[in-house]
Amino acid sequence: MTKEHRDSSLRYWNDTHKNQNYDRESIRTDNWLERFDDIIMGSKKPVLDLGCGGGNDTLYLLSKGKQVIACDQSEAAIENIKRNFPEVKEAICFNMLDGFPFNDETFDVMIADLCLHYFGAEDTKAILREIRRILVPGGHLIFRVNSVNDVNHGAGQGKEIEHNLYETESGTIKRFFDETDIRSFFSDFEIEYLKEETMSRYKFEKRLFRVCVKK
Ligand SMILES: C[S@@+](CC[C@H](N)C(=O)[O-])C[C@H]1O[C@@H](n2cnc3c(N)ncnc32)[C@H](O)[C@@H]1O
Repeated sequence: MTKEHRDSSLRYWNDTHKNQNYDRESIRTDNWLERFDDIIMGSKKPVLDLGCGGGNDTLYLLSKGKQVIACDQSEAAIENIKRNFPEVKEAICFNMLDGFPFNDETFDVMIADLCLHYFGAEDTKAILREIRRILVPGGHLIFRVNSVNDVNHGAGQGKEIEHNLYETESGTIKRFFDETDIRSFFSDFEIEYLKEETMSRYKFEKRLFRVCVKK
């Protein structure tokens, strides 16, 4: 990723998380993780919430009695998490582009909700290698990513700088996946669940893929 794209992303997400300034009562989960409750409840280790943002999924995991490690590149997001969810095991600020600050095979369940679609192909592959490294054999990554059909949120719009990767007005980059892309990027994992669907958490409906893969 270029330095400009990386800086723009950090600026954009810090501004977003500062401006939202939400409190715990206003945080909502859309329960997309319910389908994977058996996997989540079977976890024997803390669950990693990657790109946690405001903590929708952290909230869900805590409500299920799980220990949660919440991570994001945005200091503002991490401050909000610490304030709203003092019971999280850890809230860690790091950029996935710099590698993950965890030992091999630390986690048996990782959540990555709408945070794996901001990278060029080589960075995406490097991040997935890191995710694989820190998952135990048989561990699960449960995630959602933009679909190529997400026209309400920029699919096919702006300058295409790589296949299905677009530069946005804010100077960030955003990937939109099709099923072939997902099967290719995640070819080192076993795909257990893969479905394109509509999410209505935002003002305009969002098309995305909900996926569960196993190492
Ligand atoms: C669309 S939000 C999703 C937040 C949350 N997972 C949810 O679904 O509500 C994307 C989040 O990914 C984080 N993110 C984007 N690029 C990142 C990177 N390179 N390293 C770590 N976090 C990143 C952003 O800071 C932002 O909080």
